[in-house]
Amino acid sequence: MPIYSEVVMDHFMNPRNVGEIENPDGVGEEGNPVCGDMMTFYIKVKDDRLEDVKFKTFGCGAAIAVSSMVSEMAKGKTLDEVLEITPQSVAEKLEGLPKNKFHCSNLGAQALHKAIEDYREKQKKGGK
Ligand code: FES
Repeated sequence: MPIYSEVVMDHFMNPRNVGEIENPDGVGEEGNPVCGDMMTFYIKVKDDRLEDVKFKTFGCGAAIAVSSMVSEMAKGKTLDEVLEITPQSVAEKLEGLPKNKFHCSNLGAQALHKAIEDYREKQKKGGK
């Protein structure tokens, strides 16, 4: 049994920002083929800032805690600031993850970054 920090347990038991955003400005999905876990992030952008972020995670406890933490770290930040969030910074905020759970923190940052890419692509195509 991996030992989780209290912060991980808290975010796992009471995840923040769970759900889906209707008509999101960007969506990003990331999965790990080995464990089969999946994460989807939905974002709303206003004035180049993440006005809202929600996620759905089908995965292990660490993956849920990671998604919750990433969403909190990202909310209200500029898109460039969000792109600076790394798996390491997420794991640090969670006060560490067991070694075999580190890939879970990769998923969170990657899925959110993909949502921003999706948003930027849509902008280029002359979206809203
Ligand atoms: Fe794969 Fe956690 S075990 S995301």
